[in-house]
Amino acid sequence: MAVAPALSLSAAAGGGCLLFRQLFDGDTGTFTYLLADVPSRQGVIIDTVFEQHGRDLALILELGIELVASIDTHAHADHVTGSWLMHESTGCAIGLAAAAGAENVSLPLAHGDSIVFGGRSLEVRATPGHTNGCLSFVLDDQSMAFSGDALLVRGCGRCDFQQGNAHTLWSSINEQLLTLPDSCLLYPGHDYTGRNLTSVAEERAFNPRLGGYASERDFVGHMENLKLPHPHKISEALPGNMRSGKPRAVDTAPAWAPLARSYAGLPELTPTWVVAHQGEITILDVRSAEEFNGPDGRVAGSLLIPLPELEGRSSEIPTGRPLVVVCHSGSRSALATQQLLKAGRKQVANLRGGLSRWAAEGYPLDVASQA
Ligand SMILES: [Fe+2]
Repeated sequence: MAVAPALSLSAAAGGGCLLFRQLFDGDTGTFTYLLADVPSRQGVIIDTVFEQHGRDLALILELGIELVASIDTHAHADHVTGSWLMHESTGCAIGLAAAAGAENVSLPLAHGDSIVFGGRSLEVRATPGHTNGCLSFVLDDQSMAFSGDALLVRGCGRCDFQQGNAHTLWSSINEQLLTLPDSCLLYPGHDYTGRNLTSVAEERAFNPRLGGYASERDFVGHMENLKLPHPHKISEALPGNMRSGKPRAVDTAPAWAPLARSYAGLPELTPTWVVAHQGEITILDVRSAEEFNGPDGRVAGSLLIPLPELEGRSSEIPTGRPLVVVCHSGSRSALATQQLLKAGRKQVANLRGGLSRWAAEGYPLDVASQA
């Protein structure tokens, strides 16, 4: 049986020794950043979004990153952090400004701290003003900085709640961020119009609130007259973030199976779970009839509907039982899983690695007797 090729983290990092990924949550316009030191495979993730946990975890697992910490630039008002879920899944530390006073923080952060991952580190700089606990994280070589909501692309975070203060934000931006090298790339906490990064030089020149010839008085006058609506998720987001994103007991409905979600976005199950629950589920094989009846064999009791016929024959699939879709490698069954989910089927998952992995793990396959 073919064994999946081992991933080279260096290759995934484009040949460099630092892996960097920018992820985005379209619902809240939030950026999440994953950084990893290639030689040690240790990494950190910045500003995760609760609803995107499955996606982020899948990427970390697929890349084989040992996550040291899930850190937040501040206690967000517009989304709940995925830090607690990340801690539960990987054992990583949960980092947030000590000043935020949130529960479940195992890495309380303050100005001057260093967050080490392998041979690299992030310097913690206090940049209050949007909230009183805002932090920015500066990479050791000052080539990139993660400014949270203190400094956005051609903007900055609002100052009208969470102990915000425009004078304080002016000082934070000018003393802690715009003093970085001109070439330092700035990665913001949010954007709502498709802009994803900027640089110190650009913001110093073009930020309409504080760049060019703007003075502190101009900046404060601008910030105090924004008249923004209250963020609509604040009543759920802030209490959630004060628990570091730990769900309340009532939030956790038991799942029908321990689904893993691939970075491609599909629910997957392992052969081990499928074997243990074979009596309670339907196994749908979407290979051709030749393969199903051929020497590769099939899972006993599985239902054959070849992928090209699936749409027209979906009424043949029993309802009321969870469905696990299989094929040779997990590729055609991934497509079938996607189709079934799109058609409204709820309890459906792909067999990770397909029947190849099933056989490689030593689970039995029936071979049709030849006439
Ligand atoms: Fe914020």
